[in-house]
Amino acid sequence: MKRFFVFAVAALLLPLLFSCSGGEKMSMIRTEVPERPAGQEDMIGFAAPPLDTVRIGFIGLGMRGPGAVERMCQIDGTKIVALCDFEQDRAEAAAGILERFGRPEAALYYGSEDAWKRLCERDDIDLVYIATDWKSHAKMAIYAMEHGKHAAIEVPAAMSLDEIWSLINVSERTRRHCMQLENCVYDFFELTTLNMAQHGLFGEILHGEGAYIHNLDEFWDEYWHDWRLLYNRDHRGDVYPTHGLGPVCQAMDIHRGDKMNVLVSMDTRAVNGKEYYEKHRGEAAPDFRNGDHTMTMIRTEKGKTIMIQHDVVNPRPYNRLYQLTGTKGFANKYPVEGYMVDFSKAGDLAPDSDSAAGEGKVDIENLSAHSFVPEEVKDALMAKYRHPIQKELEQTAKKVGGHGGMDYIMDYRLIYCLRNGLPLDMDVYDLAEWCCLTELTAISIENGNAPVEVPDFTRGGWNKVQGYRHAFAGSSQTE
Ligand SMILES: NC(=O)c1ccc[n+]([C@@H]2O[C@H](COP(=O)([O-])OP(=O)(O)OC[C@H]3O[C@@H](n4cnc5c(N)ncnc54)[C@H](O)[C@@H]3O)[C@@H](O)[C@H]2O)c1
Repeated sequence: MKRFFVFAVAALLLPLLFSCSGGEKMSMIRTEVPERPAGQEDMIGFAAPPLDTVRIGFIGLGMRGPGAVERMCQIDGTKIVALCDFEQDRAEAAAGILERFGRPEAALYYGSEDAWKRLCERDDIDLVYIATDWKSHAKMAIYAMEHGKHAAIEVPAAMSLDEIWSLINVSERTRRHCMQLENCVYDFFELTTLNMAQHGLFGEILHGEGAYIHNLDEFWDEYWHDWRLLYNRDHRGDVYPTHGLGPVCQAMDIHRGDKMNVLVSMDTRAVNGKEYYEKHRGEAAPDFRNGDHTMTMIRTEKGKTIMIQHDVVNPRPYNRLYQLTGTKGFANKYPVEGYMVDFSKAGDLAPDSDSAAGEGKVDIENLSAHSFVPEEVKDALMAKYRHPIQKELEQTAKKVGGHGGMDYIMDYRLIYCLRNGLPLDMDVYDLAEWCCLTELTAISIENGNAPVEVPDFTRGGWNKVQGYRHAFAGSSQTE
């Protein structure tokens, strides 16, 4: 939070001012955008030379890491070269996974804070896969890239603007990929809905919503040295925004023709989080900072809006929302998957036109029932617009698993793109945009919910590409 400043001189402020309802103006907080160092180019559309086999080193083998090792064992063209965790037994347990899958033994690193550096320094690794606690992500990825490796980092990949700009600069300078392992963009409903959006079924998408609403009571005890609880104790704002924001940003073409311009964030006071902390740690936490519920509104350059929420402590069913509101349709994932679209677009999928649903009419006697297309139309739409990636991978993904299969698809796509020398599905600017909420929301909240500018992490390149696309071998386009 060192590098933000409020423009106070009215003359400078005119373009930066927001009208309040009473006509007063509220100034926007801006953070510094460091100049791109001379000779350095952006990573938009960047593809590295293809790799026949992707040689991987893993750092972090707690709750999340071993599942990734298992998945990579089931993907062709991978070699697991090294495994690292601070704890010896965790590294050894992961070695057991390789044995189980008949993979060659890997080198093990453990027992010191810096053992992971030896892994990054090896000359037989292409990709460093990082699944440690949040505070160690950026420094590990930077070190890996400085040593010639691509970096894949669990969510959130970075927790501050300083970390984000460092990741961008190192990735741009070293020409190494730096991808955030955001799995939720690969969930089946999200992939299908993205495909429907790209085929224009929702018209122009004007508004998106996403969330991480997940009561973590059964997990808090399991995090290594309580890192997550301690992080929440010390930080306000949305500290885990990427599951909600990622799929919405892809559907809204962020830095592929639009960009997030400004956000405003608000939180509730800390009640359950603080109480849990005090019970669990046996110590008072009068300054527990993370509000129980945090919500953030974002407005884009093209006049669209996004709402993101975070709540990991209240008794609520799991919910990532994933809602898209377009000029011609609507999609909603939680708590019930449903679509509302123009039936004429559905062609032969449309139900009999003499039914109210077929005519797309609203039954005003039953307003709660008119919203979604009938179940059979939804099923037919989802079959028709099943994403090509899903078509190819769904069966294997369900078998291998990892949050129902989306984790497998994420790892598969990472390896597929590296092996085929393609741009990755998520670049370092996606990482930056989805992670920047961690610090920007705290800035907004700590300054009376002030509007905060979202920096252009592409430094001018956000409009170079029109429309988000996955890359496929042998094709310059996606489906
Ligand atoms: N995408 C998802 O769905 C998803 C799900 C769960 C967790 N995650 C993310 O995965 C990451 C890890 O979470 P987790 O639940 O596995 O946490 P965890 O506490 O279970 O595991 C963290 C591991 O990192 C190791 N570690 C810490 N510092 C280290 C160091 N200096 N060197 C080597 N190892 C070190 C610890 O020993 C521990 O085994 C987090 O970023 C989390 O947000 C993502």
